[in-house]
Amino acid sequence: MAGITLEKVKGLLAREEKRYVEERPKSKALFERARHCYAGGVPMSWMRIWPGGFPIFVREAKGAYLTDVDGHRYLDLCLGDTGALLGHAPPELVVPLSEQMNRGLTTMLPTEDSIEVGEELTRRFGLPCWQILMTASDANRMALKVAREFTCRRLTLAFNASYHGSVDETLVVDFFGNLMNMPGLMGPLVEDPSKMTRIVEFNDIAALEEALAPRDVACVITEPVMTNVGIIHPEPGFHEALRSLTRKYGTLLLIDETHSICGGPAGMTGELKLEPDIFVLGKLIGGGYPAAVLGFSQEIGEMIAQRVPWHNFFGFGGTLSGNPPAVAAIKATLKHLLTEKSFAHMIPLAQKMEQGIAAIIEQHELPWYVARIGCRVEFRFLPAPPRRGIDTLLDVEYNEVDLLTEGLTGPLEMLIHLYCTNRGILLSPVHDMALVSPVTTEEEVDRYVEIIGKCVEELLA
Ligand SMILES: Cc1ncc(COP(=O)(O)O)c(C=O)c1O
Repeated sequence: MAGITLEKVKGLLAREEKRYVEERPKSKALFERARHCYAGGVPMSWMRIWPGGFPIFVREAKGAYLTDVDGHRYLDLCLGDTGALLGHAPPELVVPLSEQMNRGLTTMLPTEDSIEVGEELTRRFGLPCWQILMTASDANRMALKVAREFTCRRLTLAFNASYHGSVDETLVVDFFGNLMNMPGLMGPLVEDPSKMTRIVEFNDIAALEEALAPRDVACVITEPVMTNVGIIHPEPGFHEALRSLTRKYGTLLLIDETHSICGGPAGMTGELKLEPDIFVLGKLIGGGYPAAVLGFSQEIGEMIAQRVPWHNFFGFGGTLSGNPPAVAAIKATLKHLLTEKSFAHMIPLAQKMEQGIAAIIEQHELPWYVARIGCRVEFRFLPAPPRRGIDTLLDVEYNEVDLLTEGLTGPLEMLIHLYCTNRGILLSPVHDMALVSPVTTEEEVDRYVEIIGKCVEELLA
């Protein structure tokens, strides 16, 4: 690739790994200790996916910055992979949340705040009926159950290589023609995933119609713009076709806005004027406090309401869901953080970041591309943006990674992460993905672009 050899990548990676380890003795020691009491040395396995051999242990996360136990300060462009997109511990959230915490934590009863939240969710996202859960995975899982109940059908349709959380029905992939449980999956789930899930490629309207025509699919679950194996924008007409085909064949449409909320205050659902039957938004909706919202059409809401409440006990939500602090956090997020004003700051800066990375790619004639949704910017080691999920798996081949055994992160991606981390910038460990928060500044965006430029120069030297 334009002068970048795997040998060079591995050489620089070894240098950056050494520096990472040497400069973080306290994090390393804590990780060694944690291995005795946690599976894999972390309280949640997601914390293990960072390169470097051990994660940094965080002392404080405030605004656009994280400080670790070794005293390093990082500009955080990962922002909890969207959960903290609106900045770490913003005072607009922390003050009302703390006040609510002082008034009570969990009651299994509603607060007055929940009314304002429900009304604002309806105003903003269009659906008339809401439930509050703890995580986006939770909300998607519940949504698919509800969809099966409502339609009396069993199958879920998901787009290839999409990700919607730890949701069994969506952890299925069509891997170059073989329908299988996601490689490396904890499970495996079912012997024959085709009994649970139908997979088609994003942007393939003909395949979508063929998959829906038997009228046995309860629900299509999709992001408005795919994010999880790289940004894949819908082609013109795709969402219109998706909506009309799901209506034609009696299938519900679930829009999972959890990542694409980076597109605007009503996410890409608002930007693209989508009309889902079911809507999910987790991660940032509580401003970093655990919460997710699940919206339904009137008819589905009535079905849920008509169930004797005890029946909901059999597999919907949980006693902690909708707790008063979570509701207070959602209220503060909607009112003060997830606003036009925030996006008026974030989007121009993300555009500047995108242009800066594009200039590096162009200058060095790299076969890479950069893509953006709102305030989310990422670059990939492919010559052109993919239009289908399967296309995004190809840069893994370039990275010489065996997807089935090693996961998605290859040496070049790891190098870029560690290169940035060692110079005080955190990227999302899942891709070379950066998020711009309302408190990120232009100088910080420039700094990031400059560091990527230096890394590329070293790779080409
Ligand atoms: C689109 C999408 N939906 C749902 C989820 C699950 O979110 P959580 O892990 O917070 O449950 C994710 C996680 O990355 C996601 O990307």
